[in-house]
Amino acid sequence: DWIMGDYITEAVAKIRAQVGTDEVILGLSGGVDSSVAAALIHRAIGDQLTCVFVDHGLLRLNEGDMVMDMFVGKLHAKVVRVDAEAQFLGHLAGVAEPEAKRKIIGREFVEVFKAEAAKLRADQSRHVEWLAQGTIYPDVIESGGGKGKKAVTIKSHHNVGGLPEQLGLKLLEPLRELFKDEVRELGVALGLPFHMVYRHPFPGPGLGVRILGEVKKEYADLLRRADAIFIEELRNFIDEESGKSWYDLTSQAFTVFLPVKSVGVMGDGRTYDYVVALRAVQTSDFMTADWAELPYALLKKVSGRIINEVRGINRVTYDVSSKPPATIEWE
Ligand code: XMP
Repeated sequence: DWIMGDYITEAVAKIRAQVGTDEVILGLSGGVDSSVAAALIHRAIGDQLTCVFVDHGLLRLNEGDMVMDMFVGKLHAKVVRVDAEAQFLGHLAGVAEPEAKRKIIGREFVEVFKAEAAKLRADQSRHVEWLAQGTIYPDVIESGGGKGKKAVTIKSHHNVGGLPEQLGLKLLEPLRELFKDEVRELGVALGLPFHMVYRHPFPGPGLGVRILGEVKKEYADLLRRADAIFIEELRNFIDEESGKSWYDLTSQAFTVFLPVKSVGVMGDGRTYDYVVALRAVQTSDFMTADWAELPYALLKKVSGRIINEVRGINRVTYDVSSKPPATIEWE
């Protein structure tokens, strides 16, 4: 609409004035905020923006290709894709404790990003002076201290704090004044697809906190395939009353890998394979959440498909715990 059109014109002018002929780098995660920030900055300065997409090996199925198709294929933005799976999994080997895993993933992310930034800045002709981030207004309030600050940290979400200081770059945060709904509207107005802009949140440490205990490539590969089935069926299953899909009727839904084996039977044979848990919640603020009353027919379809299609998983459970006392993620 015209209001969003005006907003984009203004934001673009502001970014151009701020940046001038300098170059900007941005860590693209595939999440809503960094994607919208990238699309907006690209609209403003085109090839003066370089996005760095770090694949830590803990992303959802085909996520990397999807991000590249969108940003390189459709928007024609410059994106450096870094395949850092081996590096991340190497550092995570033998580590089971959730906060320890978060710290490693956050630290390695900073290392990889710094190395990529250094490569770009080594070219003296390029004047890379800015680091762009998809910080939105609620992030600004949250990190401002005071109001709403919890005395006890349950989970450390600040996965990539302190990057601009470490890099000696100036910060460009074009979404700082926007609420989530406005960021989504802006994303659609900039031409990002609906399904990308209205995605469920995905934690920075990714599957690293959805594989309980030690992270292994074998587990991540199984989990990715099971989770893709769950999400596909949630998108396909339409609630007749509202006309909405169960993906849109839930706030967050995902699959958790349990590194325990249980006995099953398939054909004439015995199986002894891994277990996954499906998790789906409804919430308005993610501080409290109810487990979603998914239709049995949907659960049946999902469990049948996972067990038949993902060799290595022979049991699917559904998490019926609300927050509190359970958290949304299992770690
Ligand atoms: P919990 O599990 O605490 O999750 O009920 C609340 C929301 O936060 C997300 N979450 C994270 N996001 N890094 C993130 O960027 C993290 O380490 C992390 N841990 C949890 C979770 O997915 C949910 O949306």
